[in-house]
Amino acid sequence: MPTAPVFTEPVRPVTASGVPLLGNLPEFARDPLAFFTRLRDDHGDMVEWRLGRQRCLFLSRPDHVGELLGGAESTFEHAKMPPTFLLLHGEGMVNSKGDEWRRKRALVQPAIRPRQVRSYARTMAQCAEEFAEGLTVGERLDVRRSMLKLTQRIAVRTLFGTDTAEQEATVARTMDVAQREVGAELGGFASMVPGWAPTPGRRRLKAAIAELDAEVLRLIREHKGTAGEREDLISRLLTARDEQGRSLTDREIRDEAVTLYIAGHETTGTTLTWAWYLLSGHPEVRARLVAEAREVFGDRFPDHDDYPRLTYTQQVIKETLRLYPPVWLVYGHATDRSTVGGVRIPAGSRVYASPWVTHRDPRWFPDPETFRPERWTEEFDAVLPAHAWFPFGGGPRACPGARFALVESALVLATVARRFSLHVDPGALPAKAALTLQPAKNVLGTVTTA
Ligand code: HEM
Repeated sequence: MPTAPVFTEPVRPVTASGVPLLGNLPEFARDPLAFFTRLRDDHGDMVEWRLGRQRCLFLSRPDHVGELLGGAESTFEHAKMPPTFLLLHGEGMVNSKGDEWRRKRALVQPAIRPRQVRSYARTMAQCAEEFAEGLTVGERLDVRRSMLKLTQRIAVRTLFGTDTAEQEATVARTMDVAQREVGAELGGFASMVPGWAPTPGRRRLKAAIAELDAEVLRLIREHKGTAGEREDLISRLLTARDEQGRSLTDREIRDEAVTLYIAGHETTGTTLTWAWYLLSGHPEVRARLVAEAREVFGDRFPDHDDYPRLTYTQQVIKETLRLYPPVWLVYGHATDRSTVGGVRIPAGSRVYASPWVTHRDPRWFPDPETFRPERWTEEFDAVLPAHAWFPFGGGPRACPGARFALVESALVLATVARRFSLHVDPGALPAKAALTLQPAKNVLGTVTTA
């Protein structure tokens, strides 16, 4: 059996030339995916570049990526969130570091472990069935919007434990407004206005967060009496205790539930969108996926126990995440203890790695631009270097929701695909690097029979 490559040759950073004062900023801002790909192609695996005066390093070799991700919370400092995120996320684990982050992660992670994901799977399949029930052959739809609505419904029900359509609608609506306004603050004009200025967007954001908080805190209070009997995330967090026996406060539960919602719903909805797009261009893959779904589910209602048997569907999702990793960039700040490949990295440098670039490297993925789920055999997995495929990051800060996302994507795709196909209109669909990797235009399609 072939073995994984061993990296022995030393690597020295090469500097990519930029323009005076701005460094590589113009090229980075224009098209970050093309920029990072060019850095790797033209300069190699470890490249120094500048974002204005900020010294940066770009890594593309899997072992180096592993050193960066593995060093989070020790030799590297984890990326900081923009201040506007704080308004919505609050003190959720994404915004914490050190002991505070460790405590929160230890309290929250058990609630989304594989055993717990089992109980969420029923809601995932139920929402997918409800979605499929509402489809008609020949209907036109916006595939991305439909998938985001579906993963939003799953997130609201599994995380917040809503019981009524009204509660569900309030959480979904206020989250939509809040996320839109936070997004607007990240780029464009709003980001240049001083933080204290009450712009119309910020007023909308604050109003949406106030309404969201009132609803979520009401749900937390309601769930207190029945927490041991319910299986939603809020109920699990209500019974979680740290090593000193301390529980999370209501505010902390709110912050973690909102954080998981934001981290999980759009990433998974976008993965499903790219999956439908890729399936639409590869009828042979779609036919195999449909055959598997029909064989595994039969006429029954899908369940978590079906997940391990959906092996081809899992390969389709893995390959989709390889070509279109929603989190397309990860980074950390170098400290005075940071090294990569034996090279000392100057403290304060920003060190980046991109799944987009490493996942499309022919050294790890032959014929990298081709969508080929069949490549994901056990033998291929065994020789693939660690961190050559890292859509969920890695190291201590790796995505705690990876299992949740993989089970959800596979169950939703197979549940819908056994009856219908969401056939995306032919034509190229370029990717654009926003906060997550997004299709650069609307993803319109037609419902067809499976
Ligand atoms: C396809 C879907 C998903 C992808 C591609 C994804 C990817 C990632 C990545 C790459 C990170 C690490 C970021 C970094 O190192 O800077 C991360 C962190 C995180 N993800 Fe996910 N994620 C997905 C779904 C989910 C879901 C469903 C949940 C929750 C149910 C979730 C919760 C989180 C949280 C809370 C963190 C922060 C962890 C920490 O700071 O310790 N993610 N995710």
